[in-house]
Amino acid sequence: MLRLGHRPDALIEVLHTVQQSFGYLDDDALRYVSTSLHVPLSKAYGVATFYSLFTLRPQGEHTCVVCTGTACHIKGSTMILNRIRSRFGIGPKQTTADNQISLLTARCLGACSIAPAVVYDGEAKGKQAPDDVIARLEEW
Ligand code: FES
Repeated sequence: MLRLGHRPDALIEVLHTVQQSFGYLDDDALRYVSTSLHVPLSKAYGVATFYSLFTLRPQGEHTCVVCTGTACHIKGSTMILNRIRSRFGIGPKQTTADNQISLLTARCLGACSIAPAVVYDGEAKGKQAPDDVIARLEEW
């Protein structure tokens, strides 16, 4: 926040940095950021809940984000989610019982030309078949 001059318009970047540092955005972090940037807590909370890549809960050791935007939906993202559910027993916004894998979804990652897109621990991969995704998650 110091680097960004405590500017209110730095809210998204600050929240992103907080999440990278702590893994998620809890109440204390949102209050601290809100006060420090002089933005209403409701705005900080609104931004944190609007963007699907922000999370208010601790995540598992690894995070898998499946894009469910239009292009990825047409190219099979629902089949990917169904395979993950049947293999690992989790749906979107859930974490496996052993705390190894958290599954998230996003509405377009901006990589429609390589749909369906999946992000594994921050690394985006395109043209993912259900078998590719299951193999990657099993490595975890
Ligand atoms: S719809 Fe999936 S990357 Fe755009």
